[in-house]
Order: sequence, then C-alpha cells, then structure tokens
Amino acid sequence: MQVSATFLALDTLKTQCLIIPTFSSSSKGDTFNHIDLKSKGTLSKAAKKIKNIADPSTCSLLTDINNIAAQRILVVGLGKASDLNTKKYAAGIANAIKAAKAAGATEASIACGEDVSFIKEAVISASETNYVFDDCKSTKSTAKPLAKLRFVMSERKNVKAASKAADQGLAIANGMTLAKTLGNLPGNICTPSYLADAASDLARGKRKLKTTILSEAQMKNLAWALYCLYHAALVSPPSLIVMEYKGGKANQKPIALVGKGLTFDAGGISIKPGAGMDEMKYDMCGAASVFGAMQACVELELPINVVGVIPSSENLPDGDANKPGDIVTSMSGQTIEILNTDAEGRLILCDALTYTERFEPAAVIDIATLTGACIVALGDQASGLMANDDKLADELLEAGQSSGDRAWRLPIWDEYQSQLDSNFADMANIGGPKAGSITAACFLARYTKKFKWAHLDIAGTAWKQGAAKGATGRPVPLLMEFLMKRARVI
Ligand code: BES
Ligand code: MN
Ligand code: ZN
Repeated sequence: MQVSATFLALDTLKTQCLIIPTFSSSSKGDTFNHIDLKSKGTLSKAAKKIKNIADPSTCSLLTDINNIAAQRILVVGLGKASDLNTKKYAAGIANAIKAAKAAGATEASIACGEDVSFIKEAVISASETNYVFDDCKSTKSTAKPLAKLRFVMSERKNVKAASKAADQGLAIANGMTLAKTLGNLPGNICTPSYLADAASDLARGKRKLKTTILSEAQMKNLAWALYCLYHAALVSPPSLIVMEYKGGKANQKPIALVGKGLTFDAGGISIKPGAGMDEMKYDMCGAASVFGAMQACVELELPINVVGVIPSSENLPDGDANKPGDIVTSMSGQTIEILNTDAEGRLILCDALTYTERFEPAAVIDIATLTGACIVALGDQASGLMANDDKLADELLEAGQSSGDRAWRLPIWDEYQSQLDSNFADMANIGGPKAGSITAACFLARYTKKFKWAHLDIAGTAWKQGAAKGATGRPVPLLMEFLMKRARVI
C-alpha cells in the first residue's frame, strides 16, 4: 500500500472513493459541510435519507452527488466529536475501507480537514483490512487490496505533518504485517532456525541493522540454561538472535527489546491439554513484535539505537527434555528448580535478559506471551505491564493509550517474591495458583536488577481466538509509539 498527503480542493479531487468522516453534532463537521456546499446541497439531501448517518457503526455509500469529481462518496459516522479517540477513529476508517473495497475501489482518499491527529491510525486500519494470510493455502486470495490511500488536507501548511504521520503509520503497519505473518506460520515451518534466517534476511542490505545469530558453542558458553533446557528436538535446535539497529549517535545507550520466541509450546513433560494446543504456535509473538519494531525503525530511519534480543526454542516432551524437579543454573549463576516444564518462557527469558546487560541498555523491555493468567486478568484488551521503574512504566502506558494498543500495570511488590521459594534451589519456576502473571514477572525481576526494565505480558493481546483466529501484530504500535517518542520524532 502507498500512502500520501495532499492539499487539494475536495470537489476537484479525482479519486475512486472519497471518505468523509462525519460527526453527530448538528453541524456534521467542516469537511461534510464544505462538500455539501460544493455539491449544492445534494450531499446533505442524500444524507438525510440515511438513518443515523453519523453513528459510529454507520458507513454510507452516497450516489448522485453533484459537482464532485470523486467516483464515490463514503460518509463515515464517528459519533460525538468530543468522544472521539484513536480506537473509534480506527474502527470507523476500517469500516470505510472495507466498504470502499466492496464497491470495487483500489484507491481511496480521506478528507481530513485540518486534523492530522489520527492519520497514523487510519493507515494502520487500512493496512489491516488488506491483510490476508494464505501462505499455506493452495488457492491464493483474489481479493484486490487497497493499493493507495491519500489524506486530503484543507490547509497547505498541514500537508508536511500529515505526510510524516502517514509514513509513520505505514512503517508501523508493515511491522505489524511482518509480526502477524511470523505469528501465523505454523510451528513446523516457523522454527527457531526459521526465525534466525528471517532475522538475517531482515538485516540484508540495510546499513543500520546488523543481525548476529549465536552459534551453538557460544550459546553453551553464555546461556547455558537456555541452550541445554530446550534442546530436546534436535531437528530444531534453539537459537539466540541479536538484532542491532544503530540509528542514533554511536555513544547513545540502546533500548533493548527482548522477545520470547517459543515457536511451539506443548508444555514439555508437563504437557498441556490437547484442546486449543495449536494456538501455542503463537508463543513466539513477543519475538515477532521485536521483528516488526526493528523493521519499522529501519523504514523510518529512526534516530535512536535499539537492540533486539530473541531467545527462540520449542518446548516439547522428549526423553531428553527437562523434568519437573530438575535444577538448572542460569547464566546469572542463580539456580532454578523447574517444578513445571510449561513455565518455560521465563527460563529462556532470564538468560536472554542477563545477556542483554552487555549492551548497557538505557532501558529493557521484554515482550512475552508469558502467562494464561494474564488473559484471565485482562482479557484481550490490554497487555499486562510490570516494571521496576515507574517512569518507564508510565511512558509505556502512555504509548499504549495514545496508539490504542493499550497496556495495564500490575504490581510486582517484594511480598510476592516468596511464592517462588524453593526447598532445593535459589528459586522455583512457578509460584502457585495465585497471581500467575505477577509471579512470572517477579521471577524475571530477579534477572533485571542491573537496568531499568519493563515486562509486557501479551498472552491476551497477541492473537485473536475463535473462527477468525490469527495474530494481531500487537504490541508493535505500542513499542513504536514508545520508540518514536524516545527518538523525539513525535
Ligand atoms: N505460553 C504459555 C502462556 C500462555 C498460555 C499464553 C495460554 C497464551 C495462552 C506459557 O509458557 C505457559 O505455559 N504458562 C503457564 C505457566 C504456569 C505453568 C505457571 C500457564 O500460563 O499456564
Ligand atoms: Mn508454557
Ligand atoms: Zn510458553
């Protein structure tokens, strides 16, 4: 999809579909009225025939509008102007693009008036309606995507800002597309070595991005627990992927993004029940969001340094697999009693977090489909956020709020730590039935004392369940909002 912003008189605009956002106030909004004037009242006349035209779920294709060069006009209801937010705008635009495509349009223009505030989200919404995952189907989709989206501004002075927002939206949308596709690929295709190859491919030909895949020997040396725990399936050995994006000054400390990359989580010896187990191919969505964010940084040439660290493995039952009761030594030297082999994410993350110390990061954010308990607590609306630094937590909450990719903070008070006590080792890898997401984060907190750290539990937000199941590309928007603010480009 191509995006652009222009300044043009709306009536002379040649487009297959002109989208007009409309509000439920008596005045309907400036753009609506402007076109109505140009069309000599035929727009409002056509609009009168449609009940609740400005309601948020309404999207109306209007014909017989005079003196307008656009082939079609779509009026999108956004409800009360004072209640408008990112999510409502995005939902309205998604409806409009779907309707435009249903009417045969492959190109559309949105009348923005003077407002540049939701352009990013409009691009993301439009890109989402284009997304199909048919890599594994023998018959490919014939649906025509929306190839071009234009934002039409009523003032020339706003075009530059609009165009910048459109480019940012596109980079985020492309990052989400990458994250979704990696997430949707099955565990027999998207293995730890597939992810490693994908990371090398991502860096190919890009001056500011470097990928390093740690060799087996290096991993054994550095990340003992990571390598030796989940090595069982020799067909798919684990990999540790490091992606370094250098867009900032050489001496600027990087932001580290650490993504859980479990390409399939059967639970190991503590095997999961069969129902819905296929969904555990999504257990690498944290890693996928790091891929998406790194790609977006490159696309935007963001002036910031970012390092992505991805520990990737499978968790399968095998004669060689670790067993409940096994005690292992993490890279940090702390010992762990594995009471449940299904709490594997924290085991590979703890070494990856220790490994991240060497980059002297300004802040570390790990992103992981870590606990089913997080879905119980927050459902599919908010990612769980836990952090050892209030300022970092606030920044991430704010990034979630303004991008519509929300997070909600949970406490990791010291009092929870005793749930991880073990008779035989420094800690256990599970903390009993209470506060599962928090005890998982408390475990990670023991490996993140040397830096500012936040943890995003995306078990509920990274994919949709049900008939239309699939990866969502979250939390790429939240991460990019955070990184763009840190890079001072928004
Ligand atoms: N990958 C799962 C978490 C998960 C479960 C994500 C369901 C999405 C949906 C993780 O590795 C896991 O199995 N966690 C266990 C932890 C428990 C054994 C303490 C869980 O949540 O049940
Ligand atoms: Mn598990
Ligand atoms: Zn898992």
